[in-house]
Amino acid sequence: MQHKNIIITGATDGIGLAAAKSIASKGYHVGLVGRNPNKGKKAIDEIIEHSGNKNLDFFEYDLSLVKNVKTLADQIKQKYNKIDVLLNNAGGANKNKNITSEGLEKTFATNQMNYFVLTTELLNIISESNDGRIVNVASNAHIGAEVDYANINCEKSFSAWTSYCVSKLMNIMFTYRLASMQDKVSVNVLHPGFVDTNIAGNEGNLIKYIVKFGAKMFARTVDDGADSSIYLSTSDEVKGVSGKYFFKCKEIRSSRASYDKEDWQKVWDLCENYKDEILSIK
Ligand SMILES: NC(=O)c1ccc[n+]([C@@H]2O[C@H](COP(=O)([O-])OP(=O)(O)OC[C@H]3O[C@@H](n4cnc5c(N)ncnc54)[C@H](OP(=O)(O)O)[C@@H]3O)[C@@H](O)[C@H]2O)c1
Repeated sequence: MQHKNIIITGATDGIGLAAAKSIASKGYHVGLVGRNPNKGKKAIDEIIEHSGNKNLDFFEYDLSLVKNVKTLADQIKQKYNKIDVLLNNAGGANKNKNITSEGLEKTFATNQMNYFVLTTELLNIISESNDGRIVNVASNAHIGAEVDYANINCEKSFSAWTSYCVSKLMNIMFTYRLASMQDKVSVNVLHPGFVDTNIAGNEGNLIKYIVKFGAKMFARTVDDGADSSIYLSTSDEVKGVSGKYFFKCKEIRSSRASYDKEDWQKVWDLCENYKDEILSIK
């Protein structure tokens, strides 16, 4: 295989770690991003044990802050001369309303702003690859969600589940919008299924129970849950495929709302404005 570099966010646990192990086994140089250095070290050890591949870097960043994501992108650009794949996977759900120091609701900041900022900052270097790919991990939890532009940071009300579902809808609309303006880099999005991970931490919240219940019902292991992430990041079968939503390595339809092109643009503008505004503050 020609030498390839991949960045995987949220690679210290769950679906991201399972994807990192498998992709390292295929010989990729893997840049893992996580916020916890102990989990980062453990992940590196596990990946080496699993794959024998030592071409690994760990980047310690809390991705709920736009400025951190920008600094991460700058560090990645200094370290690598090209990125072949960006797998935006880090995400979660917060039980309580939590506004970051930059003024954004934390689930929106981590799940959507982080994807937007890292992707737009790395797009040029991904374009250097002759098979550049961006893969966004979303969720079927987006079905039924609608973006309330007056409540992005929970100005009117807060629901942990709604914030999560809306952020995942935004992941899909962002993917479709980016794919529609790109022909050099392919951009796809996926649902991993219900997977028994640590997604809601130990907060004992509704999302945790929904995930646990769903995982029991549908019984996807973490390795199964990583299938589309690995497939879209590495398979020749999807070379050049772009702007599609996948589950179990097959293209599926996302919700009707997700195909609204006016909303794609609104979500794009919203994220771009927040990014510009936050990065302009010294
Ligand atoms: N599990 C499911 O059933 C399911 C279903 C649909 C979609 N998804 C999506 O799959 C993706 C992965 O979730 P998962 O289930 O694998 O959850 P997970 O086991 O909790 O893993 C999430 C990863 O993201 C990292 N992360 C979370 N917040 C971060 C932050 N602010 N800064 C840096 N890293 C952060 C976590 O780091 P720590 O280890 O430090 O927490 C961890 O490495 C998410 O996008 C999620 O929405 C999951």
